[in-house]
Amino acid sequence: MKIVGISGSMSKNSTTRQAVSIVLNAAKAAGADVELIHLAEWQLPIYDDRDDRSTYPEIVHRFVQKISEADGLVIGSPEYHGTITGALKNSIDFLEARHLKDKQVAIVGVAGGSMGATNTVNTLQLIMRNLHAWPLPSSPSVPGASNAFTPEGTLKDERLQARFEQLGKQLVSFIQSMNPKTEKQVR
Ligand SMILES: Cc1cc2nc3c(=O)[nH]c(=O)nc-3n(C[C@H](O)[C@H](O)[C@H](O)COP(=O)(O)O)c2cc1C
Repeated sequence: MKIVGISGSMSKNSTTRQAVSIVLNAAKAAGADVELIHLAEWQLPIYDDRDDRSTYPEIVHRFVQKISEADGLVIGSPEYHGTITGALKNSIDFLEARHLKDKQVAIVGVAGGSMGATNTVNTLQLIMRNLHAWPLPSSPSVPGASNAFTPEGTLKDERLQARFEQLGKQLVSFIQSMNPKTEKQVR
């Protein structure tokens, strides 16, 4: 079973990357193969609705292929002005429902403010449903992100850390239960 994470931040030292990594690490501990796409390291161009998609640079095709081939996804975004980042939305604009149909998706958010990234994760739930994916119902977010992580990359709030880890485990078990015929194997 392959699970791909998308960290929708363009920051080098990204708290979103840390949040997505917690979920991915839990999925890995549950037996999945995992890979993280941190958008700051992926020089994706701006989607321009061109007639011939084959003319997009190779990195776009690599991105779409990785998402297509994944059995499940973890998508995280910082809250920017009450919603997801432009960088994340731009990356999703390269995807179509056929790339995401029936995939289970774990959604997380991070926010600078004390309210968490509720609007951001709800927006991602909506976008994923529009693309015929299956967002998991629990979509936790990190408030006060700049001071929320230990130097080791775990959350200082142990209950929130447990929720993020639980999400990774759930993702693996939901993918297995949604694919009873093919029985997606974990390592
Ligand atoms: C353009 C911009 C808009 C932001 N808007 C919000 C916001 O609406 N609410 C909030 O709580 N934090 C907001 N923040 C703070 C970010 O959510 C916070 O710094 C987050 O940790 C950034 O994630 P990153 O470390 O992965 O880049 C904003 C930050 C930027 C740069």
